[in-house]
Amino acid sequence: MSESTENSENSESAESTNMTAAGEGSAAGEALRPHAEDTFAAELTALAAADDRPRPERWRLSPWAVATYLLGGTLADGTVITPKYVGPRRIVEVAVTTLATDRALLLLGVPGTAKTWVSEHLAAAVSGDSTLLVQGTAGTPEESIRYGWNYARLLADGPGREALVPSPVMRAMAQGMTARVEELTRIPADVQDTLITILSEKTLPIPELGQEVQAVRGFNLIATANDRDRGVNELSSALRRRFNTVVLPLPATPDEEVDIVARRVAQIGRSLQLPPAPEGLDEIRRVVTVFRELRDGGTADGRTRLKSPSGTLSTAEAISVVTNGLALATHFGDGVLRPGDVAAGILGAVVRDPAADRVVWQEYLEAVVRERDGWKDFYRACREVSA
Ligand SMILES: Nc1ncnc2c1ncn2[C@@H]1O[C@H](COP(=O)(O)OP(=O)(O)OP(=O)(O)O)[C@@H](O)[C@H]1O
Ligand SMILES: [Mg+2]
Repeated sequence: MSESTENSENSESAESTNMTAAGEGSAAGEALRPHAEDTFAAELTALAAADDRPRPERWRLSPWAVATYLLGGTLADGTVITPKYVGPRRIVEVAVTTLATDRALLLLGVPGTAKTWVSEHLAAAVSGDSTLLVQGTAGTPEESIRYGWNYARLLADGPGREALVPSPVMRAMAQGMTARVEELTRIPADVQDTLITILSEKTLPIPELGQEVQAVRGFNLIATANDRDRGVNELSSALRRRFNTVVLPLPATPDEEVDIVARRVAQIGRSLQLPPAPEGLDEIRRVVTVFRELRDGGTADGRTRLKSPSGTLSTAEAISVVTNGLALATHFGDGVLRPGDVAAGILGAVVRDPAADRVVWQEYLEAVVRERDGWKDFYRACREVSA
């Protein structure tokens, strides 16, 4: 069990029989959510074969191929690489390039802007392994970033390398791989500071053994942080200097957001074994329109000003509203996504604070939804669930 990279959050799963050693992926075919490197193994292999550009040491692909993996494209042999991230190309190029330098990468943005998603795919493309992961919480101990001890071994054999339980970061350093730290700014400041030595000296001392682990070429670290619920100010300036910060924006246009939602819903639907919903695009567009208008505090045509609800109404939430709607349509409807299937989900996403948000929603419903051409069914469905 000491070999497991499971962090404390996942510790129950260590008991289950389905446990795989990190990167082994033997349960990939069965896993509810396979790692990126397993889901897109064929694309990664095709990219590696087509890639004749220089690769930084221990990288599976060149920076160009990593960017192509994220943004999508067609290779010379006709292999289609699906876009994983939809957004400005430059952002991806800067992120990938940072990983090839001696600075770590900090992905910053409001909730649901694909920070975790991009971090996973970057690690998968660069190192072929996205599982060297530390989940940051207010309770993340120093051991999750440095190392811990297997106490049975420690008592039996005394302190030694065998009794040491390396953290994902330590393993990434030793193997020249990409480590990931999720929600960096939730980690207590003194624990965050553990990263300073790692990132600036590229070494992790083990004073108990009088040893150290030195990072080998290929090691780097991707952290994500949310700039909404707790500020990035909490990142000490000493640590911040070790990172190149890349801000992931909200989708620029409605079309872009519809495209992201449709793509992800199709993917998630496949993994949940839901049949494809070809006529769902109208409903997706509607969800995205509602979310964007409420988020922006005004209708798309600029005529009506609106109050914004307390929730974030991110792309990620739009994806889950549509996925749930699709499941409803499949199990209780005729398989076609209809207004009634998304109305309850939208209400749940918008009305987080039962008092204030409900007023915002009612105003939007009566002032905008009711008046809009072609939205009659949707208005009726919303009225039904709002009552
Ligand atoms: N620009 C985008 N391109 C592709 N997918 C996107 C984009 N924006 C959001 N998504 C999708 O949104 C979902 C949620 O993203 P993710 O969990 O990575 O967000 P996050 O920024 O880490 O949010 P949080 O701050 O809540 O952790 C993913 O399924 C991702 O595919
Ligand atoms: Mg995240």
